[in-house]
Formats: sequence, C-alpha cells, structure tokens
Amino acid sequence: MSDIIEQYEKYVMPTYGRQQVAFVRGNGCYLYDEEGNAYLDFVSGLSINNLGHCHPAVVKAAQAQLAELIHTCNLYYTRPGGELAQRISELSLGGKVFFSNSGAEANECAIKLARKYGRDFAAAAGNGVTGDDKHRIITLENGFHGRTMGTLSATAQPAKQEPFKPLLPGFMYVPPNDINALKTVTDGGVCAIIFELVQGEGGVYPLDQEYVEAARKLADEHHALLIFDEVQSGLGRTGELFAYEHYGVKPDVMALAKSLAGALPIGATVAAPAYSDVLGPGMHGSTFGGGPVPCAAGLAVLNELTAPDFLTSVQAKGDYMRSLLEKLKADGLVTEVRGLGLMLAVDLPEPNAAAVVAAALEQKILLNNTSENTVRFLPPLVVEEGMIEQVVEFLQTALSS
Ligand SMILES: Cc1ncc(COP(=O)(O)O)c(C=O)c1O
Repeated sequence: MSDIIEQYEKYVMPTYGRQQVAFVRGNGCYLYDEEGNAYLDFVSGLSINNLGHCHPAVVKAAQAQLAELIHTCNLYYTRPGGELAQRISELSLGGKVFFSNSGAEANECAIKLARKYGRDFAAAAGNGVTGDDKHRIITLENGFHGRTMGTLSATAQPAKQEPFKPLLPGFMYVPPNDINALKTVTDGGVCAIIFELVQGEGGVYPLDQEYVEAARKLADEHHALLIFDEVQSGLGRTGELFAYEHYGVKPDVMALAKSLAGALPIGATVAAPAYSDVLGPGMHGSTFGGGPVPCAAGLAVLNELTAPDFLTSVQAKGDYMRSLLEKLKADGLVTEVRGLGLMLAVDLPEPNAAAVVAAALEQKILLNNTSENTVRFLPPLVVEEGMIEQVVEFLQTALSS
C-alpha cells in the first residue's frame, strides 16, 4: 500500500469510499499517480475540474492573485469578488450574489434566504399571517443538496438522513415529475421549492419539461421562491451555461459551486433582483467566502466557458458520447442512457456498477457509480472525441465479458 493511502487510513476519518489510488499531479483530462501512470479522468473531481486539471488560464489567474492579495475577510472590499458577482449576475438572474465555499453552503444560504423571504412576505401581508406560517420548503425525493444539517434536511434520501435525525423541521418531500403531488403540498405556507434540474448524485435524472414549468407556475401562484440547485448541472456541464436554459424557465434563486473557481473552493447563491436584498447586514456570512483567489480563478473560468463555440462543443461531444452509449443499449449491454450534455449515465442490467468502476481503474480510466446499477460520466468539458471512444470501448469490452 502506498504510504499516502496508509496515512489516510490512520489519520483521516473514514467518511469516503475511496478507490485505492493516490494522485500526485493533474494535467488536462489526465491524473497521474506516484509511479507516473496516467489515468483518463471521466469523474472530473465530481464535476469540479470541468476545464481539465490545472487549466493554464485558471493557474495564471490564481497565481497572480496569490502573489498580490490572498485574504482580507468580508469586513472590506476586494476587486475580484465584485467582478465575479457582476459577471455571474449578468450571465444569469441579473440580481446579487452571496459567496461561500461549497455547494452545501450555497444551498444553505438559499434556504436561509427563503425562510427570511417567507417571514417578510407574511409580515407584509398583515392579515394575521405570521412568519412561522410561511416557512415550509419542498424538495424532491432522490435529490441531493449537501451534507450540512440544513441541506441534509433538504436531501430526501432516507439512507443519508437516517443516522442524523432529528432533521430540521419544515421540509416536505415529493416524488420528481409528479405534478399532482407538487400541487397537493404547495400552498401559502410554502416559502420555497428547491430542486436540481438534473438529479446528479441521485443517478443523473433530468426533470421533465412540463414538471419544471408547473413548478414555476405553482411557485408564482403561492408566492414561493423557485430555487434551482445548479451546483452540479451548472456552468456548462449540460451544454448550456445553466441547465435552466434547456427548460426556458428561470429560478428566483440559484446555487452554484463545484467548477466555478476552476477547482478552488467556492459557492455562490445567486438571486433575481426582487430577492437580492432579502438577507441584510449580519444575517449571513462566511469568513472565507468570496476571497480574492477563488474569485480571480472564477473570472478565468467564466471567460473560458463563454468563449465562442465552447458550449456548442460541449453539446456536440455530449451528443457524440450519448450516441455511442445508445449503441451499447441497442446491444443489450446497458438498459438505459440518461443525461444532458456531458452529464451522462448508464444503467446496467446487473447490479455490478462498482465492479465496472474497479475494472476501469485497472485500465487507468476513472469512472464513478452513483449506485450499484448506475455508472455516471462527468468528463472534463475539454474532453476529446478519442477519449470518449476509449471509455465507451472499455465499457463495451467490460460489459460483454
Ligand atoms: C446538486 C448538488 N448540490 C449540492 C452539493 C454539495 O456540494 P458540496 O459537496 O460542495 O458541499 C452537490 C455535491 O455533489 C451537488 O451535486
């Protein structure tokens, strides 16, 4: 066993099921182990290294900022934070941004914003309705929003919630794509409906168009916020800058994180103008949030993502990979192909996805399974067609034997 792995086993809490490999370097679509072996990375740090490992523009921006100013805390202003907020705002909802350090924190802020909005709305209604009456938050079964107690309470997956009960009160769960179920629970006591447009950790399930439209309508009717968790689906992963563009439905609030700062930690909660000032001074905060280094890297990332033809190429490569995976389905090697853009998954006929991922590692290919039946593909958005072919050929051989 490598001494790196040994050290982890001894000193790091065993919360992750790690593959038995330690990496020392990354470049483009490849990670390198201690012996210098190259691994083709179709995990991308779980949709973090979307521009590939150590993208030169990200490294340059972060290094320059590191040498200039690393941290001040949020008692002061710095240039990269304002610039990144403006860029995100102009590319999405047109309102203001709160910066944090992770996807869970981006959602946590969205949850707090929704609760505060519910209170303000109830108080303004002035008809005896109190803030406590408009606090319920609806989320979808099989969704994933993070591991903090707030976001775990929003994550309707019993196995993840069970060991940590009691959860926060006020969360209600409905099955995805069931418009009637959503109608039944949405009333004036709801302050927010939160979901992923493509359930990522749940196995890459895109929501139906009609469902997303119905959720928008119900949220409007009942003065509830519609919040999209685009932590995994956002920032080019699905072939549009934000997955909501596929649906033509805008949220009131959106959570971003993962790839935003080119693999440095960041979270961003983005509000439409009407909800931009719901959280006032002292109501929320994060010591590291919006630091100059991740924000400088974030600006470099957005420059790359918005370069001419970048997103078109993501869509084209997604379509290509999907077409190859559909051939596996036609041959009976997989039972379903799902996803949008380069956020893809296949279901296997047998519950042996972990074995497929292990076999891929042997072949120096990094894959990830979301369950015993589902293998997920999150290649860097800069992946090349030949790499896609290599991975699908591996799958074909592995699943045929
Ligand atoms: C949709 C979604 N929301 C939230 C999170 C949590 O993000 P983090 O692990 O950065 O807290 C994830 C992580 O996988 C995610 O996929």
